[in-house]
Amino acid sequence: MSISEPPHGTSSGAAADPASLPLQVRAGLGSGESFWHTKSAAGLPALTLTDGPHGVRVQPGLADHLGLAASAPATCFPPAAGLAQSWDRALVARVGRALADESRALGVGILLGPAVNIKRDPRCGRNFEYFSEDPFLSGTLGAAWVEGLQAGGVGASVKHFAANNAEYDRMRSDSRVGPRALREIYLKSFERVVTESRPWTVMCSYNKINGVYASENRWLLTDVLRHQWGFAGAVVSDWGAVTDRVAALVAGLDLAMPGGDPSLDADVVAAVEAGRLDPAVVDAAAVRVLTLLVRAAANTDPVVADLDAHHALAREAAGRSIALLKNTGDLLPLRADGALAVVGEFAVHPRYQGGGSSHVNAARLDIPLDEIRARAAGAVTYAPGYGSGDDPQRLIDDAVAGAAAADAAVVFLGLSDHAESEGYDRVDIALPAGQLRLLEAVAAAQPRTVVVLCHGGVVRLAEVDRLAAAVLDGALLGQGGGSAVADVLFGLVNPSGRLAETVPERLQDAPSFLNFPGEHSRVLYGEGIFVGYRGYDARAIEVTYPFGHGLSYTTFRYDTAAAAVEGEEIVVTVSLTNTGPRDGREVVQIYAAKPVSDIARAPQELRGFQVVDLARGATGAVTVRIPRADFAYWDDRVDDWVVEGGEYVLRIGSSSRNIVHTIAIHLDGDGVRVPLTENSTIGEVLADPVAGPRLISMFQQSAAAMPDQDSLGTGMLKMIESIPLGRLKLFGVALTREVLDHLLQADP
Ligand code: BGC
Repeated sequence: MSISEPPHGTSSGAAADPASLPLQVRAGLGSGESFWHTKSAAGLPALTLTDGPHGVRVQPGLADHLGLAASAPATCFPPAAGLAQSWDRALVARVGRALADESRALGVGILLGPAVNIKRDPRCGRNFEYFSEDPFLSGTLGAAWVEGLQAGGVGASVKHFAANNAEYDRMRSDSRVGPRALREIYLKSFERVVTESRPWTVMCSYNKINGVYASENRWLLTDVLRHQWGFAGAVVSDWGAVTDRVAALVAGLDLAMPGGDPSLDADVVAAVEAGRLDPAVVDAAAVRVLTLLVRAAANTDPVVADLDAHHALAREAAGRSIALLKNTGDLLPLRADGALAVVGEFAVHPRYQGGGSSHVNAARLDIPLDEIRARAAGAVTYAPGYGSGDDPQRLIDDAVAGAAAADAAVVFLGLSDHAESEGYDRVDIALPAGQLRLLEAVAAAQPRTVVVLCHGGVVRLAEVDRLAAAVLDGALLGQGGGSAVADVLFGLVNPSGRLAETVPERLQDAPSFLNFPGEHSRVLYGEGIFVGYRGYDARAIEVTYPFGHGLSYTTFRYDTAAAAVEGEEIVVTVSLTNTGPRDGREVVQIYAAKPVSDIARAPQELRGFQVVDLARGATGAVTVRIPRADFAYWDDRVDDWVVEGGEYVLRIGSSSRNIVHTIAIHLDGDGVRVPLTENSTIGEVLADPVAGPRLISMFQQSAAAMPDQDSLGTGMLKMIESIPLGRLKLFGVALTREVLDHLLQADP
């Protein structure tokens, strides 16, 4: 047995032969040496893994997985909640590539990200680290991030696999998810990343999935991940997710982290020696870990990270991630020569990342107020507006006085570091009441009021939308956010961000509202596939801002759209014109609906998107190729993806609720054959291409025997089609065992 660099690696490496290593060493490779390091073996140096995802968190001293102890300075790019709003694959890949340089400069071989869990409920404390409520967007951006990172010779660790959608009791909670929701929503983003960008590692989550811990879940780690998706890398545990090393190994887990507890390796050795564990299982895991060491060792030539260039990229990414949610009377962009009142603590102490393991020690930080002052030609006043310790009424009065005297006010609102974090969930989605009182007072004194938002998880914006004339939402923007916000306010950047998560009117409207966070270490995913906009749309619920929404300082006209089925692809072409006053970017979104279906369907699902930059007055076209397979649903009767035949409607527009063109296409179905049993209904048997004709001829024979009855009339068939075949005999139909067996025989 030997290993060498696998086919998708970045370079070739030394071969190693685990068979020549003692059992203790082979077993030991399956757990780390210390908090952030693997062991070294076979002449290969140990490998460093560290967080991730939006910056490199290398801890030279004390180590922890909650972001408490100090870490080396690194570029803090926008966390996924912000970056996802760019809807820009190429930009996300560039961020990944820059992260690779910083990882290598800091001696890191694997960066722990991206996190592609679905934002199932707005309250999940870790939503800031996740991309979207939609699996296509999450998976597409996650795959781009991995491609960028791994192109720089650093491995990714796609996390947290799987169905880890709440922080409540996260190390024990059991996510009870039905097969369709699991495949179509929760596994889908991982499947896309694994199959498209071939990450070096996948990180299993803490929680259970349908009763079995992810770390011990053979169905998840081996059947689905390796056999069905073809994953060839190593499975790493989340930090502290493994309690039973032997069970985890058998399930397909290769590397248990953090390391440092030799007793866990001893358990593995003992199990092999007692004949309870096949040594081949230990060897297979050892090979995969050695392969990682080989890959990392092949990428150790020195790299110097250009922190200035990375800061510029962080700022560009932040600018692209800002969504303009509202802009009454074209208040934005602001005139540089007007007098401006800046209000809100976040203008001087910006909130730009989330709390917990991903917390980066930002190498630099742009302060919004400073950046606004640097771009303004007129007077800029500042009032904190809210904050601890001070008299709230006085703070509001000061802010109102400044706003009333200015030509416009820019009010920074949002959630503080303590309001949300890894490790706990929120109980509501409200902005602090004091901030809303402030906004009410400022907006009453100054109608030209702009709100700039910072938050990780979604916040209720009904009041903000009512009070503010313009709203900018960047979620969390990383260290370049301050300058990016100023760029957008003054029109140096034309905003093009789009929401990756619906902003509901009320928390109670969220599809998962009644099933979050669960109880007694169990959470039922009762809303099934109806997550995010799928659930709001299905129940026709008004939202404050829909999924995919975002405005621009220019306008776009969708001229024409066409779609054609070409073999195994649906090719959609959309032509559009920039009809407004400045250059800009549009994000063309394509949703698909299946109006007539045998299964429960969301009214529409995102199937493709493309950003397009158009100069003022220019016309351009985007072409989006959607694989036919992306139209499949998970059919749990046959445990497989199935494309249902018939008419689909492609809905093309600038957000999930601003659809401009609809195009009907026809797709041939997959002709799924569900194995028939005595419990199959007459309708199901009739639909079967082999058994159906047999049953009809049987009916025809009995009709011939009863000439006065129209045994095969449509009305008659409709009445009996829901009767299970085997129960016909209870109604006096002479169905012998032989006749039944003949009917149900699969072969023609
Ligand atoms: C988090 C992971 C992180 C790991 C190491 C865990 O608590 O869930 O996302 O990568 O710690 O810090």
